[in-house]
Amino acid sequence: MDQRTPVRRTARAAALVLLVLTTSTGCTGGVEGRPGAAGLRDPYFPKLGNGGYDVTHYDLALDVDPAAHRLRGTATITARATQDLSAFDLDLVGLTVESATVDGRPAAVNRAGQELTLRPDAASRLRRGSTFRTVVRYSGSPRTLTDPDGSQEGWLRTADGSVALGEPTGSMAWFPGNNHPSDKASYDIAVTVPEGLTAVSNGELASRRTSGGTTTYRWHTGEPMASYLATVAIGRFDTKESTTADGIKVFTAADTTVAADSARILARVPEVVKWEAERFGPYPFSATGAIVERSGDAGYALETQNRPFFHGPPDAGLLVHEMAHQWFGDSVTPDSWRDMWLNEGFATYAEWLWEADKNDRPVQGRFDAAFEDDDNWAFPPADPPTAADISQAPVYGRGAMVIHRIRQAVDDDKRFFALVRGWTKAHRHGNASTADFTAYVEKTTGQDLTELWNTWLYGRSRPASKD
Ligand code: TRP
Ligand code: ZN
Repeated sequence: MDQRTPVRRTARAAALVLLVLTTSTGCTGGVEGRPGAAGLRDPYFPKLGNGGYDVTHYDLALDVDPAAHRLRGTATITARATQDLSAFDLDLVGLTVESATVDGRPAAVNRAGQELTLRPDAASRLRRGSTFRTVVRYSGSPRTLTDPDGSQEGWLRTADGSVALGEPTGSMAWFPGNNHPSDKASYDIAVTVPEGLTAVSNGELASRRTSGGTTTYRWHTGEPMASYLATVAIGRFDTKESTTADGIKVFTAADTTVAADSARILARVPEVVKWEAERFGPYPFSATGAIVERSGDAGYALETQNRPFFHGPPDAGLLVHEMAHQWFGDSVTPDSWRDMWLNEGFATYAEWLWEADKNDRPVQGRFDAAFEDDDNWAFPPADPPTAADISQAPVYGRGAMVIHRIRQAVDDDKRFFALVRGWTKAHRHGNASTADFTAYVEKTTGQDLTELWNTWLYGRSRPASKD
């Protein structure tokens, strides 16, 4: 906290100087426009993301030496300017920036905290609406970050390599970008590792080539992805490739020490995808799978796109949860970190549905238990008090209760699941907010649900009755 305020002041001072420069050189062919904002004013992470442009594609080439914990990267970022830009920021923490170019010409580099500011040379014209290409070369020892809730993200060292986990902020520990869920883009991620190690990432494996003692894995993500869902896992993995009956490519990777224990559950990936697609709508991506590390390598699972990450072999409930995020979070992505309950509420509700379907454990029983659990009433799911709370019980448990209350209000399972499928269809590969959701549900049901939202979504205390 102490370090943050001075950092932000530095960034502001730099922006002011730039502004003065811009005005004074404006008519002599200097850099035109104004600097893009240094953050997107997310309610919990105001400095995340940047203003003035929209990324359409990230091309990341990473050369990783796991033994030395070193990374060398080239990030080629294609973006569209949303204003005339004299300068713009990317988010990056740690590492050393060796060079940066914009449309092939050198750009001035400034760093202040997580803000990497690039100022294109005077000949560059970043006009509103134009597409430009930024290349950043960087290297160093990528950092592990500690979240507000105390968990570790960013670049984590594992027993035999590393894994990158990015929720909510960690992607900036291994590549420069517009690090906010509201700016989704396609990705090509190429990772070069010593021969014998495997590098797993998102999307489809486009190629794998070994020469001179190293292997390069090229991964392609064609559908839009939020930066927090990007991953790279490096280590000794047992991998399996197949294709589902619906033509979805499956790639699973399990750390060799847990591969035998993972085999049974990983074989169920296609079954879970199909079961969820029947309820939530068509699976949104061309590829699926999973990454299983040793339990000591990370403290939690994450819905990394296409290929959820697990800290040890997951049980069916956890697989169902992370796979449900492919619809709720990965395809339909929150507008801001305040909308987290849309991710976790639906993913938790998917677990309840699975338990009811497979193990005869009625959803109503789960709802009743969640209602009695004091932890779910600590704060309203749609308004966590601090950044540390976005991963806490009300976001999950009461989030799921909100979904169940909607199901009760609809009072017809056919119509309820049609409503859910309509939601994933309306925002497929996009973003959505809590307000988008409540408006959608009211419009679809034709009901005024003010009471439901006020009690279950925004209410601060447990109502007298759960009915
Ligand atoms: N989204 C993860 C899950 O439920 C958990 C998680 C990891 C998380 N990091 C987070 C939730 C940061 C909120 C914020 O599967
Ligand atoms: Zn989750």
